[in-house]
Amino acid sequence: LHIVHATAEMAPIAKVGGLGDVVTGLARACITRGHKVDVMLPFYECIQRQHINNLVLISTYASYFNGDWIPTNAYRGEVSGISVIFIEPSNHFFKGQSVYGGSYNELEAYLFFSRACLEWMQVTGTQPDIIHVHEWQTGALPLLYWDMYQDLSLKKPRIVLTIHNMEHYGECSQEQLSKCGLDGSVYATEDKAVDDRTIGHNPERLSLLKGGIVYSNAVVTVSPTYLKETLCSGWLASTLLRNRDKQNRRYSGILNGIDSAMWNPATDVFLPAKFDAENFQGKNVCKHFVQRGLGLALEGTSSGSDRVPLVVCVTRLVAQKGLHLITHAIHRVDELGGQMVVLGRAPDGRVQREFENLANLYNQGSGIRILLMYSEELSHMLYAAADMVLVPSMYEPCGLAQMIGMRYGAIPVVRKTGGLADTVFDIDQGSQPELANGFVFEGIDQGSLNWALDRAFSSYREKPNEWATTLQKVMKVDNSWNKTAGQYIDLYNTLRVKW
Ligand code: ADP
Ligand code: GLC
Repeated sequence: LHIVHATAEMAPIAKVGGLGDVVTGLARACITRGHKVDVMLPFYECIQRQHINNLVLISTYASYFNGDWIPTNAYRGEVSGISVIFIEPSNHFFKGQSVYGGSYNELEAYLFFSRACLEWMQVTGTQPDIIHVHEWQTGALPLLYWDMYQDLSLKKPRIVLTIHNMEHYGECSQEQLSKCGLDGSVYATEDKAVDDRTIGHNPERLSLLKGGIVYSNAVVTVSPTYLKETLCSGWLASTLLRNRDKQNRRYSGILNGIDSAMWNPATDVFLPAKFDAENFQGKNVCKHFVQRGLGLALEGTSSGSDRVPLVVCVTRLVAQKGLHLITHAIHRVDELGGQMVVLGRAPDGRVQREFENLANLYNQGSGIRILLMYSEELSHMLYAAADMVLVPSMYEPCGLAQMIGMRYGAIPVVRKTGGLADTVFDIDQGSQPELANGFVFEGIDQGSLNWALDRAFSSYREKPNEWATTLQKVMKVDNSWNKTAGQYIDLYNTLRVKW
């Protein structure tokens, strides 16, 4: 198969959250299985070119936007062994210091990018079997394909959309949609009929994510439990249900994996010592390294309440992630005499200030460190150093932090929602002890979190041998793409047009 991903993120060069990890991990898993993969990515100004191998300009063409044909360069390079096509328009799109939040209109930039991907395939005669789009950012690509590109290609690609997070649906006006050459009014009537072309909530509020859902050949979301959640609530639930019911369309939940080469404590270049499930002495070295580096007390003797568990939380600081529970966990861990490191960045200024205040309160003297930044390197070190990884999300389509944590020997403490419910099973409560691998709570209140965290602390302090056994078991859980990449490949194969 030839698969082309069109995406706004790709790890490690343009990663904000799990979307970037998933694109890279899934692409590599498909390449390993003998398929050809290209990833199409905006050439963000912030991408560090030294991380790209063999970068060459491969085409100069023009792509339509708002009445003009914008001169555009396409480069090809290699990132983590994957072929990447970088799309660089000559206008101001994708300029700035970060992947998101530049001083251009993001929605319009991704509309441009969606069309520029198709335009590039057309001018270069690239004919993939599958075009795989992700999130609202490339949700317009299937619409554009059906509206204006399908007659132009000899071999018809099939289009797969993966929804990573339903909360972001790419709200778009008719006028904005028209800027990429589509007739906004055609797509803007009210959402009444089953088979109409509308992608609106109402005529002035269109959704690019809905466009992707309606016009792709198959829709996937990132865990089986999140699939059920998306069918039960939210304004797109009925659209998704209709899609699932249609004979020629599908909606399925395929659990994400983690890239087992990128996230491997036995080979991780960021770690001061390597370790694996058979020999995890190196994990203590990592813990001490982080404790020293952050000015935290080193763990004392090795039994009872002198054992100091280190909890880490590596996350975007947004409401989805359970901000009030993260804040509460900081207080609780301090109260229990443990250590906690939060590594996070808040896109919202008010949240950022709240956490800055907490950092000022705690960062001196206590066992708490709040690091308000994005750092790939530090994230690897923290997972390796951690005894527990905390993920108290309000909702979580899949979640990679708990899977990465497990691979690095950190026992997950999570709220039971979405993909967390599919990957973490309570040690004390579960009906299948062979799956037990963490501490799970359900409520969104402080008491519920305490219930799980306190049990984790007691277990760590009072039953060190059992803890070591669990740790070993958790490190062996296979959360890699080995488990689920095959489901994507099966889906691609069933959709593919055979010639
Ligand atoms: P989401 O995609 O909703 O942010 P996931 O758990 O799926 O959540 O993926 C988050 C990814 O981003 C993980 O690889 C995590 O380690 C990483 N990450 C999140 N915040 C930071 C940060 N501040 N610094 C480094 N890595 C981060
Ligand atoms: C989104 C979701 C997260 C998921 C990630 C990758 O950012 O919030 O739960 O793991 O995408 O699919």
